[in-house]
Order: sequence, then structure tokens, then C-alpha cells
Amino acid sequence: MKNLVILSGAGMSAESGISTFRDKGGLWDQYPVEQVATPEGYARDPELVLNFYNERRKQLLHVEPNAGHLGLAELEKDFKVTVVTQNIDNLHERAGSTHVIHLHGELTKVCSSYDPYNPHFLKELKPEEYEVKLGDRAGDGTQLRPFIVWFGEAVPAIETATLFVEKADIFVIIGTSMNVYPAAGLLNYVPRAAEVYLIDPKPVDIHAMRRIHVIQKGASEGVNELKRLLR
Ligand code: APR
Repeated sequence: MKNLVILSGAGMSAESGISTFRDKGGLWDQYPVEQVATPEGYARDPELVLNFYNERRKQLLHVEPNAGHLGLAELEKDFKVTVVTQNIDNLHERAGSTHVIHLHGELTKVCSSYDPYNPHFLKELKPEEYEVKLGDRAGDGTQLRPFIVWFGEAVPAIETATLFVEKADIFVIIGTSMNVYPAAGLLNYVPRAAEVYLIDPKPVDIHAMRRIHVIQKGASEGVNELKRLLR
């Protein structure tokens, strides 16, 4: 079975009703990044940050995986699929993808504010626990924090992701503006012999000296076209 590696971003979940970051009216138009997605912002006003993620976490209860997520899960019948996602939602998993690497953390998880990557304090929230309040404590007694990688923080999962990208026979970029590193840098680790596809309704300027098969469509239609092309 060929190794198929997906790199997905916010556009993957757009058709499920979750807004992207940099499209018009996107999340970064509504919220100042430095206040809600940096360690400094969290230190300055933890309650604002907790509520920003509480809102996004509760949204998970009202959205469903779209045909793009489901199509990727079906590809597991014919390929060894690894989904490397920048998204913090759980829609790839809910669609049935069984190997998902979250580079930027996961909305349904919380951790220690002192030692975010300590597995002893990592916790998966049940839906009834989706509202995290100031004063809720992690196992080490520090404030329970969203398990999200904020700007300026390390991306430990990038090492594992790179190992899978280096073995890709097919690499598919879906719904990301390729603006944020190290995620966007994964393209540099794709073997020269691999085929690269890009699914996005808008042109994405990728500075890569290699042939990229562009499917200029949304995730749902684009994944269907991809499946036809891969047959
Ligand atoms: N289907 C596929 N792609 C879409 C769709 C759709 N229906 N709608 C929009 N897109 C594309 C946009 O054209 C854009 O290229 O999705 C991409 C979204 O880009 P961004 O909003 O920049 O999101 P992303 O690339 O995932 O951001 C990366 O930045 O803010 C941080 O941590 C955050 O993980 C995020 C990272």
C-alpha cells in the first residue's frame, strides 16, 4: 500500500461551518491573535483566553465532519494514510481517520499551565466539561489550560510528522494558506519522487521548486476529484 500523507488546515473544516483564520471575516479578523493565541496573552488575561477556547470547543457539539473529512477517511481502504493537521477540531477523527497528528494541539484536551506537554496532566474533556473556568486545576495544581500550541511555543509533533512526510508516496495539501511554520515547511521533506496535490478554492502561493497538481476546489469536491485521480 502506498503511503499517503495529508497536510490539512482550517479550510478543511470550513464546509463544516468552522471559520478559517485568514479568509475575510476569519477568526483573526474577529480576535487579536496576540491576546488569544500567545503565552503572553494567556498570562495577561487567562479568563479571556479560556473563554475564547470554550466558545470554539462548544462549537464542536454543533458541527459535523464534511464530505472532505469523510473522503479522506475512506482513502484508508486503499492507502496507508497519515493526516497531519494544523486544526484543533476533532472532525478528522469523527469522520473515521485513524492516524491523525495534531501539530497545534486539540480543543478537546486540557493540560497543565506550568508543564503543558507533561502527559500526566493531559486530560481529554467530556462534552459536559467543555467549559473550562478560572480556578479549574490540572493535576499539578496549576490552572487548567487549553492543550493548544500558541504562537511562539514549540511544536513537538513536528518531528513525528516529518518522519511520515519523508516516507510519503503521495502528499496532499488541503485548506491551508501555508503561512505558518514549521507546518508549511513540511513540503520540503516530501520525497522528490512523490506526487503532490493541493486542494484549495483560492490560489495558494507555494514557493516550492516542484510540480504540484492543483485542484482549485473546496475540500468536499476537491477530495472527490482527488479520489478519482488516485484510482
Ligand atoms: N475548502 C478548502 N480550503 C478552503 C475552503 C474550503 N471550503 N475555504 C477556504 N479554504 C482555504 C483558504 O483559501 C486558505 O488557503 O483554507 C485556507 C485557510 O488558511 P488559514 O485561514 O490561514 O488557515 P491555516 O492555514 O490552517 O492557518 C494555519 O495559523 O493561526 C494559526 O494555528 C493557526 O493552525 C492555524 C495556522
